[in-house]
Amino acid sequence: MRQDTGTTSVWDDRSLRSFGAPLEQSTTADVCVVGAGIAGLSVAHALCRQGMSVVVLDARYPGSGETGRTTAHLSNALDDRYSHLEKLHGADGARLAADSHTRAIARIEEIVKSEGVDCDFERLDGYLFLKEGDSSDVLDAEVVASRRADLSGVELSCWKFEQHAEALCLTFPRQAQFRPLAYLGGLAAAIRTLGGRIFGSTHVVGFEDDPPRVKTLRGDTVSAGAVVVATNTPVNDRVAIHTKQAAYRTYAVAMRIPKDALRILLWDTGDPYHYVRAARHSEAEDLLIVGGEDHKTGQPGDGYEQRFDRLTAWARRYFRFAGDVAYRWSGQVLEPNDGLAFIGRNPGDEHTFIATGDSGHGMTHGTIAGMLLPDLIAGRPNPWADLYDPGRVRARAAGEFAKENVNVAAQYLDLVKPGEVESAEQIAPGSGAVLREGANRIAVYRDERGAVHRASAICTHLGCVVSWNDLEKSWDCPCHGSRFDPDGAVRNGPAIAGLREA
Ligand code: FES
Repeated sequence: MRQDTGTTSVWDDRSLRSFGAPLEQSTTADVCVVGAGIAGLSVAHALCRQGMSVVVLDARYPGSGETGRTTAHLSNALDDRYSHLEKLHGADGARLAADSHTRAIARIEEIVKSEGVDCDFERLDGYLFLKEGDSSDVLDAEVVASRRADLSGVELSCWKFEQHAEALCLTFPRQAQFRPLAYLGGLAAAIRTLGGRIFGSTHVVGFEDDPPRVKTLRGDTVSAGAVVVATNTPVNDRVAIHTKQAAYRTYAVAMRIPKDALRILLWDTGDPYHYVRAARHSEAEDLLIVGGEDHKTGQPGDGYEQRFDRLTAWARRYFRFAGDVAYRWSGQVLEPNDGLAFIGRNPGDEHTFIATGDSGHGMTHGTIAGMLLPDLIAGRPNPWADLYDPGRVRARAAGEFAKENVNVAAQYLDLVKPGEVESAEQIAPGSGAVLREGANRIAVYRDERGAVHRASAICTHLGCVVSWNDLEKSWDCPCHGSRFDPDGAVRNGPAIAGLREA
């Protein structure tokens, strides 16, 4: 019963499904990349350009994961703020972070030109504006820290939202945006031209580091000199990385607006913050894409639908020209406890590398993986290696580490709570709920025809109880963000296996 998620993003691009043919026999390569999102394909593309043989495996098809659900801001205005990052990583670390994201945008621009990718890439300015009620001290500190991080052209200015009073903001010049799946299609085509092999519908279930080898659900293997795990959250790792990052759901709406009504990127200082861009839609109109309303995965608070209601109301308040909602969707963001992605050698391994912890900047962090991991694989020095090292521990991130792990510990209390319903008859068609049967928790889904599907509600990662996400038609784990299809098949890691039969 494997099925698509409940919502469809504005980027949906079916042409990428042509890369979905499965691996049907064991093979070898210089490097095996697992996961065909922006990180995996950026790494594969760079390796192919360097003349290496590359095999890419994806459980579904390129772009079927979170790359298709981003709003694709290409920015060096990091949302954890340079004033905060320099406390965690030092002034040099903040400078390297700024440099890496600036270069990532330039790398994307270079690839778009050299590979002739038609993805609406465009440079434009970004504005970080003060949320009503926030102190301007936030922006004062950030302009100083941004300059210390060698970001050129960052200035304090004002932005006027139609009928509203002027809002103080920071301007970040030369940001960019693109259509992420169109870009991914260009990368995939270039990889194929360069001799790389991309296989879809190939679920990897086993990893060995020495010698490096991955095993697929069908039983085939790929033996390689190195393995790169780029599965959004690493499915080869059980604990080390997953205690250092937390999974959040974020929401986006795309509303019809007049042509060229907005040609900038916008973010506010709220927590969670709003993020805004426009995208070309037709000859006659563009779309205003507004995101925000984040919450921890599997912990939706007052619900899912309400998130869209609040986003739409916020958009209409500031952009009176916003028309009806054409698309709405949600995606998953991984928040590392010190604000920067984990890109490098997997802790404890020699030949296995990971790229995870997008921190809301997945397009640039994924592109940084494409510039950093090929150097590490080849044994070349790279100035960003220590900054992004997955094994790093930043003492000043201890507070965030403790907060997120206390939250995880609290989720295990769900094991002793009563079920959400007493019988499957109480579940509406197209919906799911957790039932209690003695000591067992059962994830029960009633499909649109009324047929009941049962699976254990115990997450196969580390044993938390999953909860039903009625918006995306998935079982979401509140501990580290694993997600499962209605019938229990795994959709997102860190779980590598589906929910067990019940
Ligand atoms: Fe870790 Fe579910 S994702 S227990």
